[in-house]
Amino acid sequence: MKKLVVLTGAGISAESGIQTFRDTNGLWHGHNLEEVATPQGFAKNPALVLDFYNQRRKNIKEALPNAAHCILSDLQSQFDVQIITQNIDDLHERAGSKKVMHLHGEIFKCCATNNKSIVYPILDDLHLGDVDENGVQLRPFIVWFNEDVPMMPDAMEICKQADIFIIIGTSLVVYPAANLVEFVPNGIPIYIIDKKIPDLVIGKNYTCFEKTASKGLMELRKILLD
Ligand SMILES: NC(=O)c1ccc[n+]([C@@H]2O[C@H](COP(=O)([O-])OP(=O)(O)OC[C@H]3O[C@@H](n4cnc5c(N)ncnc54)[C@H](O)[C@@H]3O)[C@@H](O)[C@H]2O)c1
Repeated sequence: MKKLVVLTGAGISAESGIQTFRDTNGLWHGHNLEEVATPQGFAKNPALVLDFYNQRRKNIKEALPNAAHCILSDLQSQFDVQIITQNIDDLHERAGSKKVMHLHGEIFKCCATNNKSIVYPILDDLHLGDVDENGVQLRPFIVWFNEDVPMMPDAMEICKQADIFIIIGTSLVVYPAANLVEFVPNGIPIYIIDKKIPDLVIGKNYTCFEKTASKGLMELRKILLD
């Protein structure tokens, strides 16, 4: 089976009603990213950050996978599909995708503020005073800005093995994730689907679908299965 590697971003979950980041004038649900998505923001106002992610967790719990998530899941019958997602939601998994790597963490997991190597499930709210067995405050298991992305070496290896590479719904401005395309073998087909194709890929040898994730994937599926 050919290996289909798919890099997804917030745009693939937009049709499920989950707001993207950069479509909102730099404010994410009314907050600066520095306030709610950095370790410094958490140190300054942990209650605000916990509440922010409690809201995100609630929204994601209420959301459903959309046609784009489902098409990627269906493609598993024809391809070895490996998804590398920047999203913290679980919509790829709920659509049935088996191989999903979360580069930036997962909203339904938490960890101690001093140790990200042990994770715990969290389905509902996380509050100040919720601690691990050592009495250390818990935080969402999210890779914030200014933090390492520990999955990157594994993600790079996956990209090196791609026969086909697809990019869906990402502005490609957050590094190191945006660099992953540099690791795919020369000459393999690269497809990109985005409501607004990012300027930085214009002029590259990618096949572009300037469409929503579901419409773009419906067209790409026909090409892949031909
Ligand atoms: N850790 C945090 O709390 C935090 C906060 C903000 C951003 N981030 C990280 O930054 C990463 C990069 O952001 P990103 O690139 O995923 O999101 P983004 O918001 O930067 O870009 C979304 C992209 O999706 C496109 N899009 C919007 N609706 C679409 C649709 N219906 N169909 C297809 N495309 C659509 C937009 O045109 C845009 O190119 C995020 O995944 C996230 O991990 C993290």
